[in-house]
Amino acid sequence: MSNIILVGMMGSGKSTIAKRLESLLTYDIFDMDHEIEKANHLSIPQIFDQYGQEYFRDLEHKMCQSLDLDKTLISTGGGVVLNDANVSALKKLGTIIYLKANVEVLFNRLQDETGHRPLLDQKALLKQLEDLMENRKDLYEAAADVIVDINHISLEDLGQEIIKNLKEIGYKF
Ligand code: S3P
Repeated sequence: MSNIILVGMMGSGKSTIAKRLESLLTYDIFDMDHEIEKANHLSIPQIFDQYGQEYFRDLEHKMCQSLDLDKTLISTGGGVVLNDANVSALKKLGTIIYLKANVEVLFNRLQDETGHRPLLDQKALLKQLEDLMENRKDLYEAAADVIVDINHISLEDLGQEIIKNLKEIGYKF
């Protein structure tokens, strides 16, 4: 299946980059968190508040298992790689791109956004990001077909950079 799946930490810009790629390729966009919110008529923070993280992970897992998409840019939530079965399901759907950023870059981007991210709180942000990254970095790298360093690149250039990387591994658009 020829989908492009974006994984990476909160703040790595998955949804934004999906939109950028959408304008460069004739692909649709599927934002998993957004679809979970729509299906449950609740925002992600509301799901965490009312039902807890485990419940959210279950919704996320069920969504991974049920995806039936083609020629689509799939933007995932940052924790999707925590479950091996999610990664296996995503791998069957297409090529996984890890948007790799330093914790400092993520910190700068996320400072004003902690209200929308239930796993982060403003004061403890840097430490939380470091801990999440420590737990997840190997999982992101193991899941990825392509790793793109996004620390020193503009959004404009990033779209082209991802397309270049995909072509290098034989991806046909
Ligand atoms: C999460 C990341 C969020 C969302 C949820 C949990 C995580 O998505 O799925 O708040 O565990 O990293 P984004 O990566 O799009 O912020």
